[in-house]
Amino acid sequence: MINDLTRKCILNRKDYIPGKPVEEVKRELGLTDVLKMASNENPLGVSPLALEAMILELQNNSNLYPESLCTELVEKLASNHGINPGQIFIDNGLDGVITMIGLTFINPQDEVIFGELTFPAYENITSKMDGVCITVPMTEDNCLDLDGFVQAITPRTKMMFVCNPNNPSGTINTREEVERLLASVPPNVLVILDEAYYNFVDQLDFPQSISYMKDYPNLMILRTFSKVMGLAGLRIGYAIASSEIIKVMLKAREPFPVNRIAQAGALASLQDKEFVTKTVTLNWAGRKQYYKAFNEMGLRYYESQTNFVYVELGKSADDVFQEMLRDGVIVRPLTAQGRPFALRISIGTPEQNERTIAVLKKAMCK
Ligand SMILES: Cc1ncc(COP(=O)(O)O)c(C=O)c1O
Repeated sequence: MINDLTRKCILNRKDYIPGKPVEEVKRELGLTDVLKMASNENPLGVSPLALEAMILELQNNSNLYPESLCTELVEKLASNHGINPGQIFIDNGLDGVITMIGLTFINPQDEVIFGELTFPAYENITSKMDGVCITVPMTEDNCLDLDGFVQAITPRTKMMFVCNPNNPSGTINTREEVERLLASVPPNVLVILDEAYYNFVDQLDFPQSISYMKDYPNLMILRTFSKVMGLAGLRIGYAIASSEIIKVMLKAREPFPVNRIAQAGALASLQDKEFVTKTVTLNWAGRKQYYKAFNEMGLRYYESQTNFVYVELGKSADDVFQEMLRDGVIVRPLTAQGRPFALRISIGTPEQNERTIAVLKKAMCK
């Protein structure tokens, strides 16, 4: 009976298996000191300015519904990016934004293009909307093959998701590659650049994507407060696009998707340049710490432009993951994403990285 009631595209989905929470690992393994290096969170916590603003908002206004359109935050972001407020759409994390993109645009059987090794939310929303996932193999350097994206376009293509930098490979597509893509995609196909990790990029040929907005009305850019701003637990992210796109997406949106505390925290975090600099500096040092260890261990990795590293172990990542869990360190095996020998490890403080490396070394010897 339930099978008849349920939409087929939901019924056909595999159950979602979330990453192991710290509490579960403590309970199951009887550990007290567990370190999670699996979800690319900010190891410095949250900006002190944001924290102060959030506490005030919690104390003073929790009984009131939030402002639906996040007007103050929209205006601040628009002025920072040099665009119109009508070009910004804020939702409950980028997860919420991606869901709204699907709800607004994907009809059954529409094709959606993305990389074979990329952020799972694109597959997730496409299949929930009964669209068709078209995945493009990675290049030899573990990058998204944007020329391959163009070749995959058909009359049924609705949109493509370009995760740049890409999760979980940590690699980027260059300015030249992105410009070639934009010039080749027909105007009726949406190009969505997911730039959740753009603050961590130090490669000079990374595209300044907002400057493309004026030439490409089919372009959307996604940014989040979860990573460099440390607000992952508050759930707030945004899309930048033409006002035509934003107007229709607002029709699909829930009335109050972003709570007051998140809005206050996000607005205040934009003032805290020092926190951003500290976070990025720590991250760049952490990358080097991992590269050094991987080089010593003879492991293959790809230089990261994000706050995590992708490393190939030459043996079962699930086994190494389980072994590391026993020592209280949670990392992300990429088996479910078709890379059974690779791990994704978040970059933390020097001490957290050191512990992770020591535990990885020990697990690799088993
Ligand atoms: C590439 C990418 N896009 C989007 C998200 C979702 O971000 P948010 O926390 O804003 O929902 C993530 C989260 O890890 C991500 O890696």
